[in-house]
Amino acid sequence: MPNQQSAEKRLSSPHFKRVDLSPEPVSIIGGTGALGFGLALRLAQAGLSVVIGSRDPARAIEAAGRVADGVAGATVIGLSNADAAAANEMVIFAIPFQNHAQTLQAIVPSLTSGQLLVDTTVPLAATVGGRATRVLGVWQGSAAQQAQEIVGSTVQVVSALHSVAASHLTDLAVPLDEDTLICGDSKADRERVARVLGLIPGLRPVHGGPLEYSRYTEQMTPLLIGLNARYKTAAGIRFTNLPG
Ligand SMILES: NC(=O)c1ccc[n+]([C@@H]2O[C@H](COP(=O)([O-])OP(=O)(O)OC[C@H]3O[C@@H](n4cnc5c(N)ncnc54)[C@H](OP(=O)(O)O)[C@@H]3O)[C@@H](O)[C@H]2O)c1
Repeated sequence: MPNQQSAEKRLSSPHFKRVDLSPEPVSIIGGTGALGFGLALRLAQAGLSVVIGSRDPARAIEAAGRVADGVAGATVIGLSNADAAAANEMVIFAIPFQNHAQTLQAIVPSLTSGQLLVDTTVPLAATVGGRATRVLGVWQGSAAQQAQEIVGSTVQVVSALHSVAASHLTDLAVPLDEDTLICGDSKADRERVARVLGLIPGLRPVHGGPLEYSRYTEQMTPLLIGLNARYKTAAGIRFTNLPG
């Protein structure tokens, strides 16, 4: 598998220590949406088993069908958000900030100790009628820290993907060429998420530091949205001079 080989090469870099390389199955809460669906496509293409979650299981099944149509041999199913949250150890959360807390509260009963929640949320002012180029203040410091407070201490939250455009993920003809900062309090958890996201060709995971640094990574997205409007593109970020 070329993707697996390139992932092995990436993961042998000094950014992330090499761990077990068998692809970890993932669930995506909000896998019917722009980011979640693009991610489902890319991860399925990378050979991961994907569960798409939705408030409406029929919508999840329909989205899983579209992934299967787009990616030959994809292993993908659609379930309710609650069932998707229980289905895999790694749960990617891709829901607008407006519905962040209520959707997390709805899946908390399905989560069990030791699971990893990957929060992608940007608290855009647009979700409450403001500008897409502004973010809202979150009492806990960031959406990811709000997520950690809601899911409790037995489920670890890691944040990622704030700067990756859904439009690029969704168009499989577009090769990715960008970084994603991964923030979380445990380096082992960050590496686990990096191992999954690093399977997507052209997407380089970079250690962003502890979860509280999500306040920086979430704040970068409005800057990118402004760039995208000015340059008519879907800009990502790339850090230079990192080793490896
Ligand atoms: N779009 C991007 O390029 C991008 C990039 C980086 C980060 N993000 C972040 O990723 C998250 C998802 O963004 P998105 O653009 O993918 O959002 P989206 O397409 O607008 O919505 C994602 C999913 O959220 C669910 N949803 C919608 N309204 C809801 C409600 N009232 N209550 C509960 N669930 C609801 C829907 O799933 P069901 O109806 O199937 O339940 C929908 O498919 C956001 O936090 C965003 O900041 C997005």
